[in-house]
Amino acid sequence: MRKNLLVVISIFFLVCSFQQTQAGNKSQKNFVPGTEWLDNNGKPINAHGGGVIFHKGVYYWYGEHKIEGKSEATFADGGIHCYSSKDLINWKDRGIVLSVDYTNENSDIAYGCILERPKVVYHEKSKKFIAYFKLYLKGIGYEVSNVGVAVADKPYGPFTYSHKFLGGGSLKGSGDFSMFKNTDGTVYHFAVRKPDKTFVMGKLQPDYLYAMPNSYQAPNGVTKHTEAPAVIYRKGKYYILGSGTSGWKPNAARSFVADSIQGTYTDLGNPAVGINPHNGLGPEKTFGGQISYIIPVQDKKDAYIVMIDIWEPENPIKGGYIWLPLTFKNDKPIIEWMDSWNLSFFDKK
Ligand code: GAL
Repeated sequence: MRKNLLVVISIFFLVCSFQQTQAGNKSQKNFVPGTEWLDNNGKPINAHGGGVIFHKGVYYWYGEHKIEGKSEATFADGGIHCYSSKDLINWKDRGIVLSVDYTNENSDIAYGCILERPKVVYHEKSKKFIAYFKLYLKGIGYEVSNVGVAVADKPYGPFTYSHKFLGGGSLKGSGDFSMFKNTDGTVYHFAVRKPDKTFVMGKLQPDYLYAMPNSYQAPNGVTKHTEAPAVIYRKGKYYILGSGTSGWKPNAARSFVADSIQGTYTDLGNPAVGINPHNGLGPEKTFGGQISYIIPVQDKKDAYIVMIDIWEPENPIKGGYIWLPLTFKNDKPIIEWMDSWNLSFFDKK
């Protein structure tokens, strides 16, 4: 009797674990913004404040790896986590491709540093993948913001930490940023300068490893305190999407357009439309999130996805994602809420 019961219990647990694995491997057909997003192992994706590149038929998503259970944002950062995908919906875990350093306290990326908003750019000449991130040294906090630089031979890493520089032409550096590769291969560093929060842009050197300090200027027309910038070039115009400044708390998104990269930029207002039913938040709070990046979708005409983070500063690993199409109405960007969608949306536009 007892033996039979044991057999029944074992079978029950076996079936449960099998089902869990299935859930993880099951391919998903839609983006479901604002809900838990699982990777190929059935684990919630841990890549916050990230960006995506496309290389040889594969998309790579790089984001902040947050550490479980740390309530202080300052100690939540574990490095850069990478995932890969062919369809932008189903993501394979490629692991932590740059870890903070747990052994050397004197390292720039020693555990306890703040390592945020990683973005990767491919350098054609050297065939290297270069990762940039906001880097606040351990014990210094948000006062001085460096751009950290790490380099890899493969898109899925591993990345090796190389060095840091102060962006913005300021001794306090610059905070939230976008690395934008222009049509001629020049990479521009758009960033909010510290400490005065002027929005600036500068050029990287041809090797993409450092910014040219004297190249920074404030493009006309972009509002001060524009954080979380994401930049695209579309139909002869440059678009900057971003947020206001309120730390981890969401605020209204903003957008700007210009005919040349230096500006003058015209303010096109808040691109968000609709309500996130999961939290009841609309355009005034960007659905409860903050923009991180705009992905140009391959093989679709005029197709872009906006990556938005839902921050959970009390336990950052629980932070979520809102990915929505970026569309244009009379050349004005629109990010309209959708409960569930997939790339066929771009065929119907
Ligand atoms: C946000 C910024 C995040 C993080 C946060 C800290 O505005 O976009 O990357 O730095 O502030 O309060």
